[in-house]
Amino acid sequence: MSPPALISSANPVPPRHIGIIMDGNGRWAAAKGLPRLEGHRRGAERLIEIIDACIDGGIGTLTVFAFSAENWKRPLEEVSGLFKLGEWILRAHLARLEKRNVRLRVIGDISALPEFVRVPLEDVIKSTQDNTAFTLVVALNYGARQEIVAAAQAIATDVAAGKLAPAAVDWSAVEARLQTAGMPDPDLIIRTSGEFRLSNFLLLQSAYAEIVFASVFWPDFDKAQLQLALAEYAKRERRFGQTREQIQTSDQA
Ligand code: IPE
Ligand code: IPE
Ligand code: MG
Repeated sequence: MSPPALISSANPVPPRHIGIIMDGNGRWAAAKGLPRLEGHRRGAERLIEIIDACIDGGIGTLTVFAFSAENWKRPLEEVSGLFKLGEWILRAHLARLEKRNVRLRVIGDISALPEFVRVPLEDVIKSTQDNTAFTLVVALNYGARQEIVAAAQAIATDVAAGKLAPAAVDWSAVEARLQTAGMPDPDLIIRTSGEFRLSNFLLLQSAYAEIVFASVFWPDFDKAQLQLALAEYAKRERRFGQTREQIQTSDQA
C-alpha cells in the first residue's frame, strides 16, 4: 500500500516565505448582498487569523498584497474606505504584533498614502524593527513593474556617478535595489478567488516560487485553506533547473 501523499511529500521543507494575493473581497460581499467594504472588513479579520497561523506554523515571512499601484483606479469611496480600514487594523492589532514579536515592513510607495494612515504605519514599522519572531510585509501601493523601474533608475544613477561599472550590474546588484532587499524570495505564492494571475505582485522574486490558486474568496480563506495550500506546496518538487535525479541525489547527501 502506498503511503498517503502528504507523508511521501516531494518537498518536506515548509516555505520560509509565503506571499498572498488576497483577492475576492468584493465578490464575496456581492454574493451576500453586502457592500464591497464589508468584504474588505471581513478580509482584514481573516488576515489576522492567517498571520497567527503562519507564526504558529514556523513560517518566517509573510507578504500580503493589500493595495496595488493599480488599485487607485477604483472608486474613491472604496479607496478611502480601504485606508481607513488599514488604519483601524493597525490600531486594533498593534499590541498583538508586539506581543508576538512581529516585525512590520512595507513594500510599495507609501509616500502617496493619506497621512492618517501613513504616519501610524511609519511609527509601527519603526517600533517593531527589532522584532525577530516573524516578518509581516504589507504590499501597499505596490507594483512589481514600478519596483523594477525604480531599481533600474537607482542602478543608472550609480553608473552615471561612476560608483558602479555597467559590467558589474548582475542579479545581486538588481536584487539589492528591490524593495524586498534582504528578504528571502517567496517559496509559495497563494492567490485566492479563482483568478489565475499575478497582477503585478513580486514578479522577479517569484521566479522560482510555487504558485497555488485557491478557489475561495479571501474572506473564506481560513486556517484549513492555508493547510490545503501548504499540503499542495509539499507535493511540488522544486528543481530549480536541475533534473529529478540530481535533486534526489542532493537530498540524500
Ligand atoms: C482584494 O479583493 C482586495 C483588494 C484588491 C484591495 P477585491 O476588492 O479585488 O475583490 P474582487 O476581486 O473585486 O472580488
Ligand atoms: C490584486 O487584486 C491586488 C490585491 C489583492 C491587493 P486585484 O483585484 O486588484 O487584481 P486584478 O485587477 O483582478 O488583476
Ligand atoms: Mg480583485
